[in-house]
Amino acid sequence: NNAVFTRRDGELHVEGVSLTAVADRVGTPCYVYSRAALEGALDAYLDALAGCPHLVCYAVKANSNIAVLDVLARRGAGFDIVSVGELERVIAAGGDPGNVVFSGVGKQAAEMRRALEAGIRCFNVESAAELELLNGVAGDTGRRAPVSIRVNPDVDAQTHPYISTGLKENKFGVDSDQAMDVFARAAALPHIDVIGMDCHIGSQLTQIAPFIDATRRMLALVDRLAGAGIHLRHLDLGGGLGVRYRGESPPPVHDYIAALRDCIGDRQLELILEPGRSIAANAGVLLTEVLYLKRTPAHNFALVDAGMNDLIRPALYSAWQDIQPVVEGTGGTTAIWDVVGPVCETADFLGRDRELTLSPRDRLAVMGAGAYGFVMSSNYNTRGRAAEVMVDGGQIHVVRERETLADLLRGESRLPE
Ligand code: LLP
Repeated sequence: NNAVFTRRDGELHVEGVSLTAVADRVGTPCYVYSRAALEGALDAYLDALAGCPHLVCYAVKANSNIAVLDVLARRGAGFDIVSVGELERVIAAGGDPGNVVFSGVGKQAAEMRRALEAGIRCFNVESAAELELLNGVAGDTGRRAPVSIRVNPDVDAQTHPYISTGLKENKFGVDSDQAMDVFARAAALPHIDVIGMDCHIGSQLTQIAPFIDATRRMLALVDRLAGAGIHLRHLDLGGGLGVRYRGESPPPVHDYIAALRDCIGDRQLELILEPGRSIAANAGVLLTEVLYLKRTPAHNFALVDAGMNDLIRPALYSAWQDIQPVVEGTGGTTAIWDVVGPVCETADFLGRDRELTLSPRDRLAVMGAGAYGFVMSSNYNTRGRAAEVMVDGGQIHVVRERETLADLLRGESRLPE
């Protein structure tokens, strides 16, 4: 995607289309995605997996716009979903439910029913209780539920501090010490087909070692299960590969996949992966416009028209995303700026301490905003959510209209007289 987002004569372009043209046409704030960048990121996975039975299930949560799913489905992706809403998006995008895996710790009976009806590839079951419910729902609908058990591989966070989500991770998957029992129970249930094992150890990982650690632990279990007569068809190693926002140097997809393939060796297992961020993050930017410049004794504030309701990663995780002027060299005030939004919260910033040369009305691009951007946006402060645009070759397609005031008030009412 370095080839996709380029600066030409001082102006940022995506696939040859100027971002000024996009902002003029669609307004700001708006998310802009590149079809070529999405396809390039998916292709990196598909190329690295050639010759090995595989399914790349893009994690829909990272960016669930129907056009994004459409582009990826046409290119051969399956999908990892976490709700029936995401399933309906995949279906609306023309995706094949037969290539969908359903993750998540809190699946409800109605969601299971719909997913069974649609004929999804696999339920990634996260607890013994969920397994029992799924068996019941499958029985009621006269179907068998294909199941993978999500194992918490307990990768040592001490040796791999980048997985700093130990507490959070605890709610996910089945404890590895209990996994054999849960598999045995699943194999004994009348409406369940045990077909796989899955894990997901965290997100924005920049080293291969924890993935290898987790894979080895999973494979040890796979082998034990085989010894007990339970033969799995696939191993789903989740997502989590990091991207470069700033100085990170995550392993190239090819090295990561090669290492996983190496671990699996000659076992007859289909490899499923659930990448989200590494497909979408660098395929999108958030475009915003400078409203006011406000210089105080303590800080220089650039007030822009996108806020934490549009992009919450900086406020929520202190995440750093690059902020670039759409047009360079037009003059203005050079200073160290806090780029902040209109929302009434001190946490409402897109970036702090950024050296930029700015004038009011300048457009800025927040880079790396294609994953966990729009999907995490909200209507806080009764702000309509941003428009979304897909650039495809020379074309600008609005793939989600900017929300209107009518959209925002819909469904609410006063009390009766
Ligand atoms: N599979 C499962 C079961 C997951 O929980 C996730 C992400 C993925 C796949 C995709 O992981 P990825 O390849 O995108 O790392 N909102 C946060 C990220 C939360 C990730 C949650 N799970 C952020 O903005 O950094």
